Amino acid sequence: MNPIFTPIILIGVLIVVTLIVILIDKLLGGGGESTITVNKDNVISVSGRDTALNALTANKIFLPSSCGGKATCGTCKFRLVDWHEAPKPTELPFLNKTEIEEGVRLSCQVTVTGDMSIEVPPSVLNVKPFYGKVVEVEQLTHDIRRVKFEMNEDFPFKPGQYLQIEVPGIETSRAYSIASDPKDLRHPEVIIRLVPGGVATSFVHKAMMVGDKLKITGPFGDFFLQETSNRPIIMIAGGSGKAPIRSIIYKLIDQEMPRKATYFFGARTKKDLYYTKEFKDIEKMYPNFRYIPALSTPLPEDDWDLDIGLITEVVARHTDDLSGHEAYLCGSPGMIDACIKVLKDKGMPEEHIYFDKF
Ligand SMILES: Cc1cc2nc3c(=O)[nH]c(=O)nc-3n(C[C@H](O)[C@H](O)[C@H](O)COP(=O)(O)OP(=O)(O)OC[C@H]3O[C@@H](n4cnc5c(N)ncnc54)[C@H](O)[C@@H]3O)c2cc1C
Ligand code: FES
Repeated sequence: MNPIFTPIILIGVLIVVTLIVILIDKLLGGGGESTITVNKDNVISVSGRDTALNALTANKIFLPSSCGGKATCGTCKFRLVDWHEAPKPTELPFLNKTEIEEGVRLSCQVTVTGDMSIEVPPSVLNVKPFYGKVVEVEQLTHDIRRVKFEMNEDFPFKPGQYLQIEVPGIETSRAYSIASDPKDLRHPEVIIRLVPGGVATSFVHKAMMVGDKLKITGPFGDFFLQETSNRPIIMIAGGSGKAPIRSIIYKLIDQEMPRKATYFFGARTKKDLYYTKEFKDIEKMYPNFRYIPALSTPLPEDDWDLDIGLITEVVARHTDDLSGHEAYLCGSPGMIDACIKVLKDKGMPEEHIYFDKF
């Protein structure tokens, strides 16, 4: 063959291969325009093949995403309407049978490959980005810090809800329950426990300074005080789970503590306790309120003469029939599951038990 034809043949082959690649990409929906119809009436345009979570964020619809899309938090759920694609194995730990049947998915695990229709909780459409300047940092225990922000505008939240903080430089966000008085919408506070090696908590505990400006989104969450109820309340928390309960208690104080409220807080040793005086002082002021801190493994030097035991044992000891009560729980998944069992054994209906696990 005449050598002059070799480059021409090569260029021809390259063009054909490129066209095939473009065709395959188009067939898979890549690079093209798709639409996502949100809650039946809001239609947004999406180009390329991004995850639904990212596509929604780019269009200012902020689903919660407290692991930054790694499929480890399960907070970014939405419902795919008329779209039959089985959830990925990464999603299964976060979806129950009913959710799978109804088309609920983790939006960070769904790729937009064509037009789709979705349902999100209406409250999510009120979520927007804010900026918060760090105005106070307080070390509460050896591994827990309180951080107070001054927001660029009022941050409207219900007591119990959470916000997301974006870690500067890596644009990944983490969820933190709001720990402060819901009356002060300009200055939300969070309580953050250091997770060794954790991206966000290492930043907060080791690098963040007063004066830093952070990107914050919210408010998120369906764990909040049921303000129209008049049932007596049981609250149970461990570790940084004290955060949303503190906000709920501030709200009850604003209402002059109209309902009986008993708050159990579990820690391992005395060095893991915080705000004991704050809650004991509230107890002195409001006869309807009781604060019961308990240590599971007190040290001899703790000199602890109050409740000892797992928080489930302590709750079981201090309560009788709970069929007319409601409960707010916040702590590790294991603690919450064990507490729900105790409360149900004492007659509390499951639908009156509200919780956030983290
Ligand atoms: C709704 C909600 C509310 C939350 N509220 C609070 C709050 O008020 N205060 C608070 O401190 N945290 C809260 N969290 C947890 C928080 O969002 C982060 O997950 C946590 O701070 C760890 O973030 P990180 O970036 O430091 O760790 P990552 O970098 O995400 O994780 C580092 C490693 O630690 C592991 N890890 C992550 N979290 C924990 C944990 N809690 N215990 C043990 N190992 C862990 C991970 O699996 C990973 O291997 C909340 C979470 C949710 C979903
Ligand atoms: S963002 Fe955490 S599971 Fe999707």
